[in-house]
Amino acid sequence: MTKQELVRLLALEDFTPVYEEADRIRRETVGDEVHIRAIIEFSNICARQCRYCGINCTNPNIKYYQMTREEILATAREAIDAGYRTIVLQSGENPSLDREWMGSIVREINGMGATVTLSIGELSDEDFRYYRQQGADRYLLKHETADPDIYAELHPCGTLESRLHSLMAIHDLGYETGSGFMIGLPGQTLETIAEDLLLLKKLNCRMAGIGPFIPHPETPLANEKQGDPELTKRAVALARILIPDANLPVTTALGLVDGRENAFACGANVVMKKVTPDEYKEAYEIYPAMLDKTDIRKDRKLLEEQIRALGRIPV
Ligand code: 5AD
Repeated sequence: MTKQELVRLLALEDFTPVYEEADRIRRETVGDEVHIRAIIEFSNICARQCRYCGINCTNPNIKYYQMTREEILATAREAIDAGYRTIVLQSGENPSLDREWMGSIVREINGMGATVTLSIGELSDEDFRYYRQQGADRYLLKHETADPDIYAELHPCGTLESRLHSLMAIHDLGYETGSGFMIGLPGQTLETIAEDLLLLKKLNCRMAGIGPFIPHPETPLANEKQGDPELTKRAVALARILIPDANLPVTTALGLVDGRENAFACGANVVMKKVTPDEYKEAYEIYPAMLDKTDIRKDRKLLEEQIRALGRIPV
């Protein structure tokens, strides 16, 4: 599909046929299974100033935390006992992160029988290589927006070019590459979203998280409009058509603004569940959210039931 065609489809009056096509492709490629991943947000320490994000380092109200090795491993153990087989380790981008410490946690969790996905920001190529050697199989680093000007505007301390360099390094090191972007960023048009979608393909993404932008009151974008859930689902559906066998999560942000409907009907096949301990969860506020108390085992059972009720198979 060309950029023009994607723009035309995104703007359709009635998108139903595209949803149906995306759902059909989803069934044929990745089947009816829905993968449930556990995400541990192990630290909110971040050196970046992303203007949409609640934990950008210019927000003076952040209560900083860093989970200990023991806490992270105990949480991972509990998640694995509850049935999870993929642990996503996510944090802000912390240039002082001790890489031997991080690497040993990756190895330990691997040893427990789970796949580790890292989502700890833009690193040096050397660090990406190190964590790959320590056993991390997947890396999530969303490109956020494919428009270099919007990217520069929203990220005072980064460029789209360096982001793409990292994503290519991640891919070349043999990680399953995960990118993604937000819908509804200020200045974004349907053309931007078309570019975002084409970029996923160009980057050989195996995973793509597409979610609505949700304004955070303690950021410079506090008064901007929230991203449209319908447009978000359209982008997910087109991602399914463009990269047919990719893992496409229903992002938590979409779940938040679109609670009632079958969020998987647009071609998605993955969901991530926070297993971060309650004492830290609230401090990891990249966007405002209603947080329930975590009960890893119970939460997972409930999610499995919800997935089954939608006619899909939780795994
Ligand atoms: N609204 C929606 N998504 C956000 N993210 C960060 N801030 C926001 C926000 N205000 C997303 C980014 C980032 C991921 C961890 O969370 O896409 O990559």
